[in-house]
Amino acid sequence: MSEKHRIIIDTDTGGDDAAAIILAAKSPDVEILGVTVAAGNVSLEQAVKNALSAIEIVGLKVKVYPGAVRPVSGEERETFSVYGNDGMGDAGIVNPKGKAQKEHAVDYILRTVRENPGEIEIVALGPVTNIALAIQKDRETMLKVKRILSMGTAGFGPGNATPVAEFNVYKDAEAYKIMLELGVPVTVLGLDMDDEPTWTSEETWREMLNGSPLQVFIAKATGKLLEFKKGNGIDALDLPDAVAMATLVWPDFVLETTQCYGSCITAPGETHGMVIFYKEGFTYDSMPKIGKANVSVVTKAKKDIFVSRLNEVLRQ
Ligand code: RIB
Ligand code: CA
Repeated sequence: MSEKHRIIIDTDTGGDDAAAIILAAKSPDVEILGVTVAAGNVSLEQAVKNALSAIEIVGLKVKVYPGAVRPVSGEERETFSVYGNDGMGDAGIVNPKGKAQKEHAVDYILRTVRENPGEIEIVALGPVTNIALAIQKDRETMLKVKRILSMGTAGFGPGNATPVAEFNVYKDAEAYKIMLELGVPVTVLGLDMDDEPTWTSEETWREMLNGSPLQVFIAKATGKLLEFKKGNGIDALDLPDAVAMATLVWPDFVLETTQCYGSCITAPGETHGMVIFYKEGFTYDSMPKIGKANVSVVTKAKKDIFVSRLNEVLRQ
């Protein structure tokens, strides 16, 4: 029996983050020590309420720690929530009874890693501002993080925030660069792994709307996302954060990872937030082999089982 994953979930709680939190909460192989929150999909205040709601619906007894309200640079990037104004489908499902902790997310992360050196995996589902702030505050402690799993970057495909940048990186590219340069193992689940085989069709979404309490919760939380996708001509919705969490809770899900050097573009302009992946050992026509890889990028996964297996979990 492999050891349990002992994780901190860092989230900007939109509908797909909620699905990821529930997926982790339902896994017997995962111990969620705490949930830290940053602004991203929605404001910090709203993301905290959304996280509390997701935790309560699945009966998870963990604490929520509020973190960053703006990017490390202090410079806000104008974006909008594809999950509705409240980030959870504007469906009236955000009514948490609980409250967040007073302790700041960055202090919680550092305290937990200090107390459990080499054991904590941070699952980053939003902009990695809290992680970057923790690195800036106490790099030595953050070098004791076992692994960071990031839903972030476009992988080897197109972006969503811009044609080349993925939302979580775009919202705080400086933070992503700081994280990539830390030197602890980083696994990246990029948008390219969140493509059609992992999408929830409108038909399935309607079935979920009449399904178990957890299926109803996630269907309601993602209804506005489906509307947004349909506006782009796609009759389905995607749950990138839940796909990222699947790489942790389902050992058979990942089929291949590629060691790369990830270079995050922080300069202003059209490529801001783009992450260029140089494959280790690959000779590019115009440049020498790269040095040490800093990320392990998921490049093949059992995508076709994602929707059915996620719904098996939500029906529990
Ligand atoms: O690009 C997708 C990511 O941005 C997901 O984490 C989604 O929740 C948003 O944060
Ligand atoms: Ca997210």
